[in-house]
Amino acid sequence: MKITIIGTGYVGLVTGTCLAEVGNEVMCLDVDTRKIELLNRGGIPIYEPGLEDLVKRNVAAGRLHFTTDVAKSVAFGQVQFIAVGTPPDEDGSADLQYVVAAARNIGRYMDDYKVIVDKSTVPVGTADKVRAAVREQLARRGVDIPFSVASNPEFLKEGAAVEDFMRPDRIVIGTDDARALEIMRTIYAPFQRNHERLIAMDIRSAELTKYAANAMLATRISFMNELALLAEKLGADIEHVRQGIGSDPRIGYHFLYPGVGYGGSCFPKDVQALQRTAAEHGVTLRVINAVEQANEHQKQVLLNKIKGRFGDDLSGRRFALWGLAFKPNTDDMREAPSRVIMEGLWRAGATVRAYDPVAMHEARRIYGDEPRLAYADSPMEALDGADALVIVTEWKVFRSPDFDAMRARLQQPVIFDGRNLYEPKVVREAGFEYFPIGRH
Ligand SMILES: NC(=O)c1ccc[n+]([C@@H]2O[C@H](COP(=O)([O-])OP(=O)(O)OC[C@H]3O[C@@H](n4cnc5c(N)ncnc54)[C@H](O)[C@@H]3O)[C@@H](O)[C@H]2O)c1
Repeated sequence: MKITIIGTGYVGLVTGTCLAEVGNEVMCLDVDTRKIELLNRGGIPIYEPGLEDLVKRNVAAGRLHFTTDVAKSVAFGQVQFIAVGTPPDEDGSADLQYVVAAARNIGRYMDDYKVIVDKSTVPVGTADKVRAAVREQLARRGVDIPFSVASNPEFLKEGAAVEDFMRPDRIVIGTDDARALEIMRTIYAPFQRNHERLIAMDIRSAELTKYAANAMLATRISFMNELALLAEKLGADIEHVRQGIGSDPRIGYHFLYPGVGYGGSCFPKDVQALQRTAAEHGVTLRVINAVEQANEHQKQVLLNKIKGRFGDDLSGRRFALWGLAFKPNTDDMREAPSRVIMEGLWRAGATVRAYDPVAMHEARRIYGDEPRLAYADSPMEALDGADALVIVTEWKVFRSPDFDAMRARLQQPVIFDGRNLYEPKVVREAGFEYFPIGRH
């Protein structure tokens, strides 16, 4: 099948590449000429495990193309996936300008039947807006060309995106159109050979499913973060509690790790967008409102521990920071807790020396020549002369460090661990002051 992907970001590039990998011909469009030039030179704009090889292989096989030419990309695919960004608007609602622009472009140039698929995370009712935008362009041109609109929310996780796309838990397709559903079934057939994973539903339910999934996951995190704060006060260990409840199959172990608050390009914006949608319809989502409030508070917890130990004025102090990405295995720093923590440390007068296995280039892009931020070539180098280590992202390389070597390099043997990477007893026996989350 010939497929066009509109928006070649984390979702679009992974989707396009994986669809090419199973034999489709795919053209990825983006308005960002630098990104497309880089891809056409054999480069890759994001860090995602396994993606680079897959892109190279499919480009070499002639199945994967990158372009900035809208007319060409619209003509290319019978199926047009919209995978552009839906960032938060000023009021927290999803900004649909890129989705609507993509839909207009399709209407402007299409000259045969198209299935237009919303893969971006979009509020309930967006498919209607996409349909209207296409119709408006067709009417302007004075033509009547048939098309279908479907919703196919994406559930991939950054850091495991290729794996998630190739072996999805489920494929949600929302459409009221039998022809579109048939085409979507054909596209996804190679990804569900083992058992049926495709769940077909109406468009509005599909759109809401994506927000419901992210809101539920965010709820679990905020729930555990609040219990961790309570555990600290009570002298209980949240790690034991986590295991004690996770073993209940009705609860399960996933997403029960307390930490520095959730971040990333999805949870914060999707939780806010769901709140806005509910408010617009006169519904109060009390649980979700609390999830967001708890998260805002949680982002300050590590900073408060640091100030509790060193005082509010951190002038002249330097902190080693392990982890910039919002989670391991990605270079994405959108809404990353590391940003809140670093900026808080700077405001209090401190400087930071950071190490991250892949996100340092992204930090440089965001912070430019910020004099209060230096970068280290290794986790150990970041520690040299620092007043304390602050752990923000749970990269594997931070998991079993040489504590003796660490103590020798730090000015003071103090660790603030926002990810509970270590056994408190082991770290303290190694001579450190240790500040985890929800443990004693
Ligand atoms: N990143 C994730 O883990 C993830 C997971 C599931 C769903 N989503 C959703 O998928 C969507 C895309 O997210 P992302 O992380 O890939 O975003 P991204 O910012 O990485 O990529 C979006 C791309 O779209 C391009 N673009 C914008 N307008 C365009 C247009 N009119 N024509 C062509 N290209 C255009 C941008 O230049 C950018 O490269 C969002 O709605 C997001 O919520 C993201």
